[in-house]
Amino acid sequence: MLSVAVLISGAGSNLRALLEAADAPGFPARIVVVGADREADGLQHAEDFGIPSFTVPYARFASREEWGAELDGQLRVWRPDLIVLSGLMRLLPPSVVDAWSPRIVNTHPAYLPEFPGAHGVRDALAAGAVQTGASVIVVDNGVDSGPILAQERVPVLPDDDEHTLHERIKPVERRLLIDVVRRVATGELDLAGASTPR
Ligand code: GRF
Repeated sequence: MLSVAVLISGAGSNLRALLEAADAPGFPARIVVVGADREADGLQHAEDFGIPSFTVPYARFASREEWGAELDGQLRVWRPDLIVLSGLMRLLPPSVVDAWSPRIVNTHPAYLPEFPGAHGVRDALAAGAVQTGASVIVVDNGVDSGPILAQERVPVLPDDDEHTLHERIKPVERRLLIDVVRRVATGELDLAGASTPR
C-alpha cells in the first residue's frame, strides 16, 4: 500500500478528490498526512477524513531554505513513499527536492511545457489560447519543468474567465492525478524512469 503525503496551500479540491479516491476499497494508496504552508482551507478535508495534518507557515521562516528544512523534518516523521503537491503554491528548495526526488509529483493547470509557473490559467487566457490543459509531472529543481507523467487538453471557451477555465481544468487534473497515484502504487509507473526530453 503506497503511502502518500499531500501538500497544499489553498482550497484543496484536488486533495479532496484524492482523499475520496483513496477511501474507496481497493485503491492501492493511502493518504497518510496532509501538509500546508499556511492555514489553508483545504486542511479541513484532512480533518473530515481523519487524516493527520501539519502546517509549516512559510511566513514564519527567514528563508525558503529554513522553511524547507522544517517541511523536510515533518515529512520524515511520516516517511511517505510519494509526495503529491496539489495546489502547493511554493517552490520547494533544492534541499527538499533532492532529498525526495523523484518521489514528488505536482499537478499543474496547463498543458506543460505551455504556461508554467504560478499563473498558468491566467497566462493561457492572456495568450488567447483556444485550448490549454492539465499536467502531472515529476518535481525537479526547475519551475514545472520535470518529466511529464500525464497530461490532457482542456478547451478554452470564448467567455471564459480565470475562474471558469480553472474550474474546467481541475476535474481533469484530479482524474490524471488519481490515475498517476494508482499507477505508481501498482508499479506500472516508475518515477525514476520517467523522463521527458524538453
Ligand atoms: C490546482 O489547479 C493546482 O494545479 C494549482 O492550484 C490549484 C489548486 O486547487 N497549483 P485546489 O487547492 O486543489 O482547489
